[in-house]
Formats: sequence, structure tokens, C-alpha cells
Amino acid sequence: MPERRTDPEATATSAAATPPPVPLSVWLAGQQPSRLQRTGRYVPASMAHPAKMLPVIAAQAIADYTAPGDLVLDPTCGIGTTLVEALHLGRDALGVEYEPAWAVLARRNVQHARSQGATGTGRVVPGDARQIDTLLGDELRGQVTLVLTSPPYGSSLHGQVTASPGAGVDKRNYRYSRDRHNLAHVGLDRLLEAMIDILTGCQPFLRPGGVIAMTVRPYWERGALIDLPGRLTTAISDRTGLILLDRNVALLAALREEQLVTRASFFQLAQVRKARAAGIARHLIAHEDLLVFRNAAPASAVAPAADSAHLESSEPAA
Ligand SMILES: C[S@@+](CC[C@H](N)C(=O)[O-])C[C@H]1O[C@@H](n2cnc3c(N)ncnc32)[C@H](O)[C@@H]1O
Repeated sequence: MPERRTDPEATATSAAATPPPVPLSVWLAGQQPSRLQRTGRYVPASMAHPAKMLPVIAAQAIADYTAPGDLVLDPTCGIGTTLVEALHLGRDALGVEYEPAWAVLARRNVQHARSQGATGTGRVVPGDARQIDTLLGDELRGQVTLVLTSPPYGSSLHGQVTASPGAGVDKRNYRYSRDRHNLAHVGLDRLLEAMIDILTGCQPFLRPGGVIAMTVRPYWERGALIDLPGRLTTAISDRTGLILLDRNVALLAALREEQLVTRASFFQLAQVRKARAAGIARHLIAHEDLLVFRNAAPASAVAPAADSAHLESSEPAA
């Protein structure tokens, strides 16, 4: 876990008045394009998912906030990036995914990681993470060291394109599904509600000292910048027993000497070009936040971790 930074002078003079600043780190997550980060490590069909977490971010979060043998949970696991990176780092992992097709791919990725020598064990549970309480067995309560997730949002930016002369632009892999109950297809207010439900549902599974981390970035929608990290942080702080512990800024660009080289998608570039052509000064968003929360209650108030092996007592491993 990153070392806590404190300023002794500030602590002495204003400890009672102001909360300490939230530690901030910058992670170089875009040194390699996402496709290269996945090549050979994930089954090729994974590329069809429209909004995967960068493997480098998942691996860094797992390395920083857990130890070998710990259990990592992703309640919206998509094709299983959190699980695969956890297994390769010798952690056990558990994923929940609403769409059966992505859950199947997450299982295939877990099997692929195991076939490559990853030592952790993984399990994928299909279902709605808002009911995580009933999806996961009681024996997992108090066992999870890290909940690592990325909410579904900003679908206007997803997908891959092929442009061919005369044939125009072919857009593909831009949908999670056509199911309107998938949280990717609800408005911002409902998404925030759902994330509160999911995180509240995950809390009883955290062990003492465990943390909840999520990747999230601001995005443009209908001409407005949606500060999703800010909105989520406020909602979570106001409505759950969680408080912000760390903010890690994952650079989605490559750092080459003193230059940032963008990894922006076709759609992000197109949005910025269109805005600039209309005289609006707009910049590419080249980062995403990994917000890390911990339980506000003292560790002693949380149920102690059971002794049992993490994943053995429930459904068959993926
Ligand atoms: C941003 S993606 C996560 C991608 C994942 N981190 C990965 O790298 O593959 C969000 C996922 O949440 C899933 N989802 C949407 N609604 C859900 C729900 N109610 N319960 C569980 N998963 C849900 C979507 O189908 C999508 O796969």
C-alpha cells in the first residue's frame, strides 16, 4: 500500500479543524497501448468488450493494496481484467457480471491465466451486482481485501472503428448489450444510485482494513463535462460509511521524454476536433482516477475474516 504522507506542522496546528489532504499519486498507465497490454494474456475475443480496465491499472492497484493470497472482488467484472491480473499476482479473485456473454469471457480469461501459470484461483458469478449480498455466500463475508471495479458509463465514447476510402467509417464493439437494464444504459442519477447500492452491498465482504477502489474519469456529454469522479466521491462520502483514502491519477497517455503521446480513442479525438471546429476550446482527457475508499468505522467494528479458503466452498471455479 502506498506510504501515507503527512505534514507534521500542519497536523499539529490544525488537526481538529481540517481533514488531512488525500494523498495523490500519478501512475504511468499508458506507456503501452491497451491492445499490447492484453496480447497473449487475454483471449482475443476480449477485445469485443467496449470498456475494459487497463491491465496496468488493475495490476498496480492489486500490487499496492493487497498481498499474495488475499482475495480481490470485482462486482462489475466485464471480461475479467481484475481477476486475470489478481491471479497472475498470486491473489484469489471473484467477479460478478450482469451480461452472461461477458461472464463467459471472464471465465475463459481466468482459465487462460491459469494455463499460463497464474497461481491464484478465480470465480465468476453471473448476476446483478445490486444483489451481491445474495449472489455471494456468507462464508465470504469479511474476507475481501480489495474491491476493484469500474462502473459502466460514457457509452458514447466506446468502440472501435475502421475507416476505408469510399466506404466511410465502420463502428463496432461499442455496446455492452441491448439490455436496457444494464447500468451502462441508465442515466447518470440512476447510475449513481446503483453504484451506491453495489458498494454498500460490497462493504460486508471487506475484511478489516480492506479498501474499495474504482477507476472513473470525467467525460463530455451533450456539450457538458460530467465530473463523474467528483459526483461519485460526494455520493459515496455522503451516503455510505466509506471515506476517500487515496486518489491515484492514471495517465492514459504515454510519457516519451518530456512529451505526452495521446492514447485517445477515435471518438474522443472526433469530439475534440468537432468542438474546436465550432470555436470551443476543448482538450482531450488524458487521465482516469483510481479512487480508493476505506471504511470510516474502526477496523474492530467490522466482522473478522473467517479462516476458510476464499473460494473453495461456493460454486465451481471458473
Ligand atoms: C466498465 S465495464 C467493466 C470492465 C471490466 N473492468 C473489464 O476490464 O473487463 C462495466 C461492466 O459492468 C457490467 N454491468 C452493468 N450493469 C451491471 C450490474 N447491474 N451488475 C453487474 N455488472 C453490471 C457491464 O455489463 C460491464 O461489463
